[in-house]
Amino acid sequence: MKIKRILGNKKQFLDLLLLADEQEDMIDKYLERGDVFALYDGDLKSICVVTKEDEGIYELKNIATYKKYQGQGYGKALMNYIFDYYSGKCKTMFVGTGDSPLTIPFYNHCGFKISHRVKNFFTDNYDHPIFENGIQLIDMVYLRRDF
Ligand SMILES: CC(C)(COP(=O)(O)OP(=O)(O)OC[C@H]1O[C@@H](n2cnc3c(N)ncnc32)[C@H](O)[C@@H]1OP(=O)(O)O)[C@@H](O)C(=O)NCCC(=O)NCCS
Repeated sequence: MKIKRILGNKKQFLDLLLLADEQEDMIDKYLERGDVFALYDGDLKSICVVTKEDEGIYELKNIATYKKYQGQGYGKALMNYIFDYYSGKCKTMFVGTGDSPLTIPFYNHCGFKISHRVKNFFTDNYDHPIFENGIQLIDMVYLRRDF
């Protein structure tokens, strides 16, 4: 398994990024200023994007594993890699997600705790309703991990 920081042509990972954030112009808001990490095990398995929001404050904006490789430890391996990568400079890492039983348990599993909510984030910022597991996402739920 190998994890690489990607410096150029970040859009090459759009198909994976869209699994976690289905509207391309929302991805465009953070992709260029974000640090992109790609996990390869033979071929590409997972991707994540981390932005610096303030001194010591980082945000995991996107993390995704190709569907057929999910549940095999790649997401967690990538998460552990970025925790090491930012150790020393990161005091708090945030992650925002829909109020969904598909993602919140994964973040809890990786040491994140519920922080706060941004009301109506999905309905205010996306140009179409977003559904996960048949449930419409309305608020953004932020989780945090303190270092
Ligand atoms: C969320 C996601 C990135 C997790 O990646 P992954 O490679 O499948 O994760 P892992 O296999 O490393 O799982 C890590 C641990 O979390 C657990 N986990 C993963 N998804 C989970 C879920 N939905 N509910 C509960 N636990 C979960 C796994 O069981 C595993 O536990 P273990 O370490 O005890 O074995 C992946 O499911 C994905 O790409 N989903 C679609 C995109 C997405 O929704 N991204 C997040 C948007 S905010």
